Amino acid sequence: MSDLALSRRELLAGVTATLRAGAVPEPRREALRLWTELLSCHSAEALLGPDESVEPAHAAALCRAAERRAGGEPLAHVAGRAGFRRFTLHSDRRALIPRPETEGLVDLLLARVRTGSLVDVGTGTGALALSLATEGGFTTVVGVDLSAGALELAAENRASTGGWIQLVRGDLCEPLRPAAFDALVSNPPYLSAEEYSRLDPSVRDWEPAGALVGGVKGVELTTRLLDQARTVLRPEGWLAVEVDCARALECARRASALGWSDIAVHADLFGRDRYLLARRSATT
Ligand SMILES: C[S@@+](CC[C@H](N)C(=O)[O-])C[C@H]1O[C@@H](n2cnc3c(N)ncnc32)[C@H](O)[C@@H]1O
Repeated sequence: MSDLALSRRELLAGVTATLRAGAVPEPRREALRLWTELLSCHSAEALLGPDESVEPAHAAALCRAAERRAGGEPLAHVAGRAGFRRFTLHSDRRALIPRPETEGLVDLLLARVRTGSLVDVGTGTGALALSLATEGGFTTVVGVDLSAGALELAAENRASTGGWIQLVRGDLCEPLRPAAFDALVSNPPYLSAEEYSRLDPSVRDWEPAGALVGGVKGVELTTRLLDQARTVLRPEGWLAVEVDCARALECARRASALGWSDIAVHADLFGRDRYLLARRSATT
């Protein structure tokens, strides 16, 4: 199909048919989204002037993208980008696709601390670190990740957004010590091994397991983070962590046992308990 000179109508019909054959839900709507993402134009262009011909290279790119989507690849990977707060970030298999529910962590943290130094543990694409560096008044922002691939992607996003964050490779807070940050934000992996095995293939087959699994029970990495974070925050420094909604209260109890103060659980935009906020006590 892509070698022919196609009209807009024919191309849209062909892309829709490819998506339908791949059991993509709402194939025509998805075809219009792909049109917008791939050709960087409004989807109305696909519908207006239906008999106008499409540049063959554009038609070929759209057909290839439709085949990838039909094979189950997420839209953010096919388009190569994902939106997060003010940014459009590069997104591919090297890191988790930033999720809308993570955006709320930024507001919760900025309502408590806006200046000084901040670290984002498990930075992935750099979504949280870059947003907080832009929207807050911090003088130092560091993003840490265990994955070299994720850090490469975060560096690409730093360059494309004009960000100024520092990026460090290592295990949770280990590469930071000793330190006295004013704030720590994190969206650590928090699924259990069993939940991961039941994940929809559209996530499990395309996003890194290391960005999703927090341990056999799911809470292990978060617990280790709650323990280590006390050693890199200054007394009364703030912690904001995304947690699994089914284990938010368990995480709050663990934080309490580790001596955190001002512990609160907040709901995300879908009304699910998703964020754990806490403060390092003045004395521990
Ligand atoms: C759920 S993703 C979050 C990515 C990004 N912060 C976001 O919100 O979109 C978790 C990230 O933590 C990283 N990670 C996993 N284990 C880690 C560890 N022990 N130390 C540092 N980073 C880790 C993963 O590589 C992944 O990039």
